[in-house]
Amino acid sequence: MNPVQASRGAAIDLEAISKAYGGFKALDGVSLRIEPGEFMTLLGPSGSGKTTTLNVIAGFTDVTSGKLLVGEKSVVGVPAHKRNIGVVFQHYALFPHMSVGRNVAYPLTLRGVDKATREARVARALDMVKMGDFAHRYPSELSGGQQQRVALARAIVFDPPLLLMDEPLGALDKKLREWLQLEIKRIHRELGTTFVYVTHDQEEALMLSDRIAVFNRGRIEQVGTGRQLYDEPATLFVGRFIGDSTVLRGEARSDGNSTALSIAGETVTAPRKLSGEASPVMLLRPEKLSLRRPGQSASGGNRLSGTIGEAIYLGSESKYEVKLADGSAAIVRSPLTGESFGLGDKVELCFDGSDATLLADDASADTTLT
Ligand SMILES: Nc1ncnc2c1ncn2[C@@H]1O[C@H](COP(=O)(O)OP(=O)(O)OP(=O)(O)O)[C@@H](O)[C@H]1O
Ligand SMILES: [Mg+2]
Repeated sequence: MNPVQASRGAAIDLEAISKAYGGFKALDGVSLRIEPGEFMTLLGPSGSGKTTTLNVIAGFTDVTSGKLLVGEKSVVGVPAHKRNIGVVFQHYALFPHMSVGRNVAYPLTLRGVDKATREARVARALDMVKMGDFAHRYPSELSGGQQQRVALARAIVFDPPLLLMDEPLGALDKKLREWLQLEIKRIHRELGTTFVYVTHDQEEALMLSDRIAVFNRGRIEQVGTGRQLYDEPATLFVGRFIGDSTVLRGEARSDGNSTALSIAGETVTAPRKLSGEASPVMLLRPEKLSLRRPGQSASGGNRLSGTIGEAIYLGSESKYEVKLADGSAAIVRSPLTGESFGLGDKVELCFDGSDATLLADDASADTTLT
């Protein structure tokens, strides 16, 4: 068999994976199907199980229970070095005593690839990460971003069907991170390899991924495209973790097909009912909320009285924090073409009930944010 396989993305199936450390479950029944060639991001707060999941796929951590298939074959019990997986971790350092060229050649040397093929592949991998001119430098002579690009070249040089990355850009400044995000996206497109990427940064996840799996306390809360997670969060935790949101809580009343919340003497309604017994909250995205001066005529819909607590100018729009009568805060984005408001102004917060997502209340959704 050719020691360096042709590049094709592998499917990954995690089936009810659990990992316990003593009595603590780092992973608690994680199931996820990743399609061949997909860019899947594992997103979640610190300690939610992202790295553990990556380590399980790589073979660095064994599972307590569950099944794991890579390329439709079970790899439970297969050691890490036999899984043919590329890995880039935040602190997975380059070999300091080897030049960039020898670092990148290393996986090929391990696989017994002949010199001519090795040289051609190293050159191709370094070109791909735009480090072609740096083959003779040593890691200590490179910037952090350059080192991560070399690490990426080393991970893709043997054409693995699967590439795992754990916060590879975590240590870099914002500008460099954004540029490398674009580079990683381009490399993914060019290779057709399956990418599994870990981050706790939701903007990075939205920017890179085909789909995102949202982790919380060792479980996956929801898997979907960025748009699905933003527009149709399945849980309050997901709604809070992805994008800005306002959560309205109050005394709830549901009849056949609508839900009303009474908030400090005012009532808002949404034309749906939450199934199940849990107490409902309404989640609203900032662009679905608008502001008016009190008493100004508004077209139907819901209104809540509030006071401007923060007004931030963002170039093309303004962002307001509105303090509501019950002490909670709402986040509103409004175009600069509309009326502007200043700190302390009394306002009415308006929204259409059909724009509210009804979700079961979950106090932990507010406290587990990073
Ligand atoms: N070897 C270990 N022994 C005991 N507990 C562990 C071990 N490795 C991880 N854990 C625990 O498992 C949980 C999940 O850890 P994991 O590293 O997967 O989190 P993470 O989502 O990657 O977080 P972060 O964003 O901080 O990197 C944490 O509570 C962690 O303390
Ligand atoms: Mg981690």
